[in-house]
Amino acid sequence: MTNLRVRFIRHQEISPELRIKIEELDHLAFAGDDIDNDPEFANIRWAIPDWMALGFLHEELVTQLSIPKREIMVGAEKIWVAGIGGMATHPKHHHKGYGSALLKATETFMRNELQVPFGLLICADETRPFYELARWQHAADILYYHQDDQRRELHTSVMTLQLQNQTWPAGKIDLCGAPW
Ligand SMILES: CC(C)(COP(=O)(O)OP(=O)(O)OC[C@H]1O[C@@H](n2cnc3c(N)ncnc32)[C@H](O)[C@@H]1OP(=O)(O)O)[C@@H](O)C(=O)NCCC(=O)NCCS
Repeated sequence: MTNLRVRFIRHQEISPELRIKIEELDHLAFAGDDIDNDPEFANIRWAIPDWMALGFLHEELVTQLSIPKREIMVGAEKIWVAGIGGMATHPKHHHKGYGSALLKATETFMRNELQVPFGLLICADETRPFYELARWQHAADILYYHQDDQRRELHTSVMTLQLQNQTWPAGKIDLCGAPW
């Protein structure tokens, strides 16, 4: 399993060829997803990430996630977070530990390179165990985001990961922009 090669690439530096592979894997993982039929999710314009984390077996892209970095509001506090979005492993490689290996490498990247105090992601309740195995903790069942000059609510599992010596503040979570 440890033969997974992980690369972190700035989103704007991804080659057109690699972008196609990323879109193919994203489509395989999420096309026909229940959230496409959920009016709360269907009209969301998702954030453009700052980084992509990509896991390769030789030249084959097998697992991926996107990483935005953003200063958000929690209660009255401004805090920096790195997000995780679009977490996907190729279906033929599920349950081989590749997703967890990418998540682990991403934790190190967030702590050492991005130097943010927290990670933040949203997920379906069913997927929570995958992140809990990597020490992510449930923080809320609702968050706020901004689209079309409106502050909107999103009802979903919000999970956070402590990366430095700082505890997650109390209060409503406002992403201050598009969600991921
Ligand atoms: C979620 C996903 C990325 C996991 O990738 P993976 O490479 O198969 O994950 P791992 O092999 O590292 O899984 C490690 C453990 O996490 C848990 N786990 C894995 N996938 C899970 C899932 N879909 N739901 C809940 N728990 C899961 C299991 O305990 C697993 O151990 P096991 O293989 O012994 O059962 C993959 O199932 C996927 O691409 N799903 C479709 C897209 C999606 O739902 N992404 C998450 C969006 S929030």
